[in-house]
Amino acid sequence: MTKIGVLVSGGGTNLQAVIDRVHHKSGEIAVVIANNAEAYGLTRAQNSGIPTAVVLEKDFEDYDAFNAEIIRTLKDKGVELVVLAGYMKIITPAFVEAYPNKIVNIHPALIPSFCGEGYYGLHVHEAVIDYGVKVTGATVHFVNEEADAGPIIAQKTVEVADDDTPESIQKKVLEIEHTLLPWVVEQYCLGHITVEGRKTKITSEQ
Ligand code: GRF
Repeated sequence: MTKIGVLVSGGGTNLQAVIDRVHHKSGEIAVVIANNAEAYGLTRAQNSGIPTAVVLEKDFEDYDAFNAEIIRTLKDKGVELVVLAGYMKIITPAFVEAYPNKIVNIHPALIPSFCGEGYYGLHVHEAVIDYGVKVTGATVHFVNEEADAGPIIAQKTVEVADDDTPESIQKKVLEIEHTLLPWVVEQYCLGHITVEGRKTKITSEQ
């Protein structure tokens, strides 16, 4: 079974969705790491008997040392796939090098729109409304050295209605994230995902 490490910063509803669909089935979540001791994702992990770790940036002399500790914890648990599930920190080049095309992230918009620096949380959905797009959605992608720029694995859309607010779009998008992310993690664990340059392929039916 593929060993998975999940990184969270907050509520962890995506983590829960991955636990429900993947844990002890196609993969095993070996550790959940949070950069914030209050992250509710830690409680979700503990409720499922999954080991947890809290790694706080303030305890390290710099950002590289903080990331080195996260990588060390993942390697120590034998993690083969890293899942960023609402993890609010930038991934360093050393982290990408330690897990090349083995880190997946979920972004609450259709990359390459509304992504990159400053596009997180409700800011994403505010920008969607301000621009006036008619569809938005969620993207799961591999992580490379640039924010939200690695090879795209899967995307799913939702419609933007005239009376939508950033909050209502956030809710709709989060709902599709909860099926998209676990499905991608499952497909990865089953060995169904291949990557060539920027192109990924999933060799099974969705
Ligand atoms: C999700 O919208 C995800 O796309 C973004 O952060 C949010 C995390 O929510 N990266 P949760 O912690 O999984 O509930």
